[in-house]
Parts: sequence; structure tokens; C-alpha cells
Amino acid sequence: APFLERRADGALWLDGVNLQQLAREHGTPLYAYSRNAMVSAASAYQRALAGRPHLLCYAMKANSSLAVLRTFAQLGCGFDIVSAGELARVIAAGGDPAKVVFSGVGKRRDEMRAALQAGVKCFNVESESELRTLSEVAISLGTTAPVSLRVNPDVDAGTHPYISTGLKGNKFGIAHERARAVYAQAARLPGLKVVGIDCHIGSQITDASPYLDALDRLLDLIEQIEADGVPIHHLDLGGGLGITYSDEQPPAADALVGALLARIDARGHGHREVLFEPGRSLVGNAGVLLAEVLVLKPGDGSEGSKNFCIVDAAMNDMVRPAMYEAWMAIEPCQTRGDTPAQAWDVVGPVCESGDWLGRERTLAVREGDVLALLSAGAYGMTMASNYNTRPRAAEVMLDQGQATLIRRREQVQDLFRDEV
Ligand code: LLP
Repeated sequence: APFLERRADGALWLDGVNLQQLAREHGTPLYAYSRNAMVSAASAYQRALAGRPHLLCYAMKANSSLAVLRTFAQLGCGFDIVSAGELARVIAAGGDPAKVVFSGVGKRRDEMRAALQAGVKCFNVESESELRTLSEVAISLGTTAPVSLRVNPDVDAGTHPYISTGLKGNKFGIAHERARAVYAQAARLPGLKVVGIDCHIGSQITDASPYLDALDRLLDLIEQIEADGVPIHHLDLGGGLGITYSDEQPPAADALVGALLARIDARGHGHREVLFEPGRSLVGNAGVLLAEVLVLKPGDGSEGSKNFCIVDAAMNDMVRPAMYEAWMAIEPCQTRGDTPAQAWDVVGPVCESGDWLGRERTLAVREGDVLALLSAGAYGMTMASNYNTRPRAAEVMLDQGQATLIRRREQVQDLFRDEV
């Protein structure tokens, strides 16, 4: 991960901050993010897009903390949102609603109204029913809703089935074969204005080829739809670019975008505004989750016995291993030479066997040590829950040696404040 370094004395630093000291100061579990890693990830996209009409819409479901949103807003980014709640966060963080695209298969009428009143750039519409409802809602407000259809290009992005979205047979998007007819319908609805086309083919994609396939299918469609007399202004290629958790080698963002733009230009579509909706690749490798070792529980060494390293972060803080069997690196914040390394299953205190962060990790650890779960900046805090009445972690933003608390640790009383 960029901005993460192991110094000669064995201490792990992120963006100029000693992580062990940070954990002692703020307590654990603690999320820490490198602001400069986020800036550099966004710059890679923006470098490649410079000189043509474009908008980088950060998919904020990956990490929606206000300070993170603020960072991207200051870089000129827009946002990909999936709820009125996310829209409220954009506005609270000082983001520009005119740079927001609204995705999602199940938008409520009140959410459509909120987005229309805020003046979002585009609704990424995922069904014919949604088109009709959106037109009605827009008319009732005396306005017109800008729309793009999310087309399901039916390409296999080769990712985990739970996060693959571009194939036929999942709930997302409008089938490629139906798209032309649905555009004709959209163009006839009085409350709508067609402005673009979009797709999103999956997440943690480590290869450029499914993107190029999806792009070709979208360009074919644009040509047909425009021949039918419906102009398409922008082309939104979604998010999904993967990051390195272990040994994956995804293309760099600027290389991927460069290859896609070259194809767009070669096919004579270079005048179009191009949008992307990356989430993970902007924040994933910018963040770590810090946890303290509470209990070491070695097995007896017999067949099938395990060594458990029980830490104070759990599946409620980071659900990716439990939910997707995701592999995420675990490193001590301070290496030690006085303890032999052995294989540990790193687990949390939650009452589920599925509550694990890493299995069979070779670590030299003692109780009280601080461990860092790496690449935890995306889909960590945003997927956190209060299971077992565990307050959610605190968050800190790091910027060249400065650490700023950006979210206080939740208090137990907060958890039942709204209950009777
Ligand atoms: N646009 C749309 C319409 C999406 O559904 C998503 C993610 C994105 C953009 C951003 O995708 P990204 O660049 O982050 O891959 N919780 C899972 C990932 C779920 C992704 C859902 N959609 C995980 O932890 O791996």
C-alpha cells in the first residue's frame, strides 16, 4: 500500500504517523486513513482524463465518512450515491449535488424527490418501472429528471459471485437486448430527459478486458440509440477496479482509463463526456484497521487444533472476511524478536465461528500488541454494524505526520438512545 512503511526499528508508519502510538492515543479498534494515498489514487484517474470532458464520481458506499468525502470534493470529484442518506452526507461534506449520479435498483419516491430538489446530475435508472415512477415524481415537482439507463452488458468480470454485477441473472441493470426499446420509452416519458448511458460490471476486477468488452457493447448501443433519434451525452463506465490485497496485479487506474479512452477515440466517440464511479480503488489501500491482541489461545498441537489470536476488532467492524472469505493482510504494528512466530487464526470477540479476520497467519505476537489489518479503507467502516452491542470504531485521518480524529468512537449509550 502506498504511504505505508516499515521503518528500520520495526515500527509500521502510515502517512508519516507511527501506528502503534496512534492506537495507544486513540484506543482500538481504530480506522486510520492516509489522506495522501486517497489524493494520489484520485490523481491517477484525473491524469488520464485530463483534457476532455469528464467527471470522477467517487462511489461513496466504499467509505462515506465526511472527511473522506470532503477530501474528494476538494479534488473536484463528484459522487456516486445509492440512497438519500448518502446524498445528505455529500451535502453535509460540502460536495456539489450537481456532480452526483444516483444509482441503485430500489429508489423510493421520497429519495427521488430529494435528489431532484438537490439538482443531481443524473439518475442511473435500473428498470422500466423506475423510469415511469421517476417521470411521475419529476412532473409532480414541475421539473424534468436527467436519466441514464444502467445497461447490463452481460460480461463476466471474473470476481466473487456476491460482488459480480454485470452478468445476466443478477438484479442489476437493464438487459442489453432490452436497452434500445427502453431508451425509446424513456425518450417518450414527459418527466424525463435522457442524458447518458452507464454500466457497472462488478467489483475487485483485476483485468482490463471485461471493461473493454463492456465498453464496446455500450458504444454499439449508443450508435443504435442515437440512430433512433435519442442523443446520448455522457458515457459512465462505473467502478470496479481492483486493488492489491495479497498478490493481485490490477492495472493502474491511469493505464486502464487510458486504454478505455483510446478505444472510445478510435471508435469516433471522443467528444463524449466520460464518467467513472470508482470506490475501492480510491480508498481501499489508503486505510488500515488497528486492533489490540486481547487473548492468545494456543491449541494443544493435536490434529485439527488451532491457535487463536483474539483481537478487539471483529466482524462487526470489518465484515469482508466473514462475508466474502476475503483475504486481507495482517501485520504487527511493531515487530518483535523476542517471541517465535507461529500460525494464528486472528479472530474477534463476537459470538460466531464466522467472526474471523485472517486464518493461519504467521505472526510473532504477544497479548497487548497492536495489529494492523491492511487495505481496510474500503467497505470497512461503511459495512460496520453494532452486532453484540459493540460500539463502532473511531476514525482518524492522517496527513504527512498529522493525525486528526474524524469520527469519535461510538458510545454504548448511543446504541439504545432511540429505544423505549
Ligand atoms: N458503481 C456502482 C453502481 C456500484 O454498485 C459499485 C459497487 C461501485 C460503483 C463501486 O465499485 P468499486 O469501485 O468499489 O468496486 N462490499 C463489497 C463490494 C461491493 C461493491 C458494490 N458496488 C466488498 O467489500 O468487496
